[in-house]
Amino acid sequence: PDARTIIAALRDRKGLPGASAEWFADGLASDGVTDAQAGAFAMAVFLNGLSEAERVGLTLAMRDSGQVLDWALPGPVLDKHSTGGIGDCTSLLLAPALAACGAYVPMISGRGLGHTGGTLDKLEAIPGYRTDISTDDLHRLVADTGCAIIGATGDIAPADRRLYAIRDVTGTVESIDLITASILSKKLAAGLQGLVLDVKVGTGAFMKTMDRAEALAKSLVATAEGAGCRAAALITDMNQPLASSAGNALEVLEAMETMTGNAVNQALWDVTVALGAEALVLGGLASDEEDGADQVDEALTSGRAAEVFGRMVAALGGPGDFVDRYPDRLPAARVVRDVPAPRAGFVTEIDAEALGHAVVHLGGGRLRGGDRINPSVGLSDMMPIGEPLAAGETIARIHAASDGDAEAALAAVIAAYRIGEDDPEEPPLIHDRIV
Ligand code: URA
Repeated sequence: PDARTIIAALRDRKGLPGASAEWFADGLASDGVTDAQAGAFAMAVFLNGLSEAERVGLTLAMRDSGQVLDWALPGPVLDKHSTGGIGDCTSLLLAPALAACGAYVPMISGRGLGHTGGTLDKLEAIPGYRTDISTDDLHRLVADTGCAIIGATGDIAPADRRLYAIRDVTGTVESIDLITASILSKKLAAGLQGLVLDVKVGTGAFMKTMDRAEALAKSLVATAEGAGCRAAALITDMNQPLASSAGNALEVLEAMETMTGNAVNQALWDVTVALGAEALVLGGLASDEEDGADQVDEALTSGRAAEVFGRMVAALGGPGDFVDRYPDRLPAARVVRDVPAPRAGFVTEIDAEALGHAVVHLGGGRLRGGDRINPSVGLSDMMPIGEPLAAGETIARIHAASDGDAEAALAAVIAAYRIGEDDPEEPPLIHDRIV
């Protein structure tokens, strides 16, 4: 095959047979295809789509463009992926909870994208925590501790790194085929046996409608299974932040409070338990979802998940006493300011994407690639939909680097909250399950 023939076949709806997916993925990784050819390829896939078999072929080819990890461990290798949310620190709870239940979790995570938070950015709020470890160290850490949340080395799915950057500037990010191959090529390179997917839907999600979220969830599950990895997806609500805090150190704080039993946000707990239950069933560690849920619940309640988290933090260069001393160890913002409700009523709607942008503008995310993040800033104590409020009552607390930043965030948070007369119907937390 050659690039021109492959692109022309996609253009003419003649498909992408296995050998051409492999040739193109190798070409992406090795500069054997040009940027122009990669852009035309992405647009042809975007416009004409792939069959399920072609999607599996492209995913496997992109996975195999770099290193693929393999494991010889006494339990199943499992992971979770989220399509991106706000105020969602589930991964911080789930990785150690699954490890405490007998799974091994090499969680290769990403940074914030657009208005959403990134697990790596959150963990780097812990002083000393290193996310850039070698494959050998990753193998050792996962075997010893049960989980490691780290960043991708340069050799994980290099074809995706190149194609993603080109999609970003050619209007081809929003293709379900390409999103599927992109997400799964990276996840499957970690050598997983089971993957649970959290597909977000709502005002703060990339997929704003149920139709789009369902199509993505089905594509991810069918493609992962077709590539030999057991998979299940939950479509969960992102019409409001999942938990109470959004911002890097603030979310680590909330995760630690949850794992140590000091404060529990029910929605965060329920989504974590539901995703964990699916993962344990996929890995053969639970007989059904109810058994899985009981096990995850117990791992979190007993403090065993916190203990695993503490060992992971220490092994990756963070404080050895993090679980006991996390409030002192995490950075705190200079300015803390409460946002008063402009009138009495109920929280009826939240523009979760706007809250995500507010956190980015406070310095908790990046406006340009390479920007430095301020780990201490963000929002906490965010009131959920359905909360009754008196005029002047606090709807959220701003953590900012300066008075000016806090002032701008105050206006953004007030604009993101709609307060009405009537007690609204609260959105369901888990909209659907795709297996
Ligand atoms: N995240 C990814 O890794 N890839 C996409 O295409 C979209 C989101």
